[in-house]
Amino acid sequence: MIRKTIIAISTAVIGTLLITSGNPAHGQQQPKPWDVPAQYKTMKNPVAKGEASDNAGKVLYTKNCASCHGKTGLGDGVKARALQTFPGDFSGAAYQNQTDGEHFYKTKFGRGEMPKYEGKLTDDDIWNTVNYMRSFKK
Ligand code: HEC
Repeated sequence: MIRKTIIAISTAVIGTLLITSGNPAHGQQQPKPWDVPAQYKTMKNPVAKGEASDNAGKVLYTKNCASCHGKTGLGDGVKARALQTFPGDFSGAAYQNQTDGEHFYKTKFGRGEMPKYEGKLTDDDIWNTVNYMRSFKK
């Protein structure tokens, strides 16, 4: 009787672990809202959208961002599982409804586990990346 109970409990626990470990966001905190200064929210994107910017942005994104954010921006890069904070889903409305300036600010200054790219990428290259990340929209 006790043995049967132990087996039943173990099966339930292992089953739960197997199911939840398939979710990339398992155990991760959902990001809290960012406090983006008004001048960035409304900042005009100085880099024209189009093929040239997208191509430059893709190279930069693949090299610097995909390890966490995933190739298509779903937040499922190889390093994502080790993060405490879910890096976001760039294909969805919560991301795509933000202004270019908000994306620029977050990329330039970072926060917590999101590295800051100030001094690592030029402003123009951050804008190229911001432009490319629009292509993840579903
Ligand atoms: C080491 C992992 C890591 C790398 C590399 C990384 N990020 Fe992030 N990023 C995060 C995490 C974690 C968050 C969520 C942080 C938070 O909300 O506190 C985030 C958040 C963001 C956000 C805000 C998303 C939203 O929904 O508002 C943007 C924009 C962003 N990252 C862009 C980039 C860009 C562009 C690059 C490359 C130039 C990059 N990130 C590289 C981990 C990473």
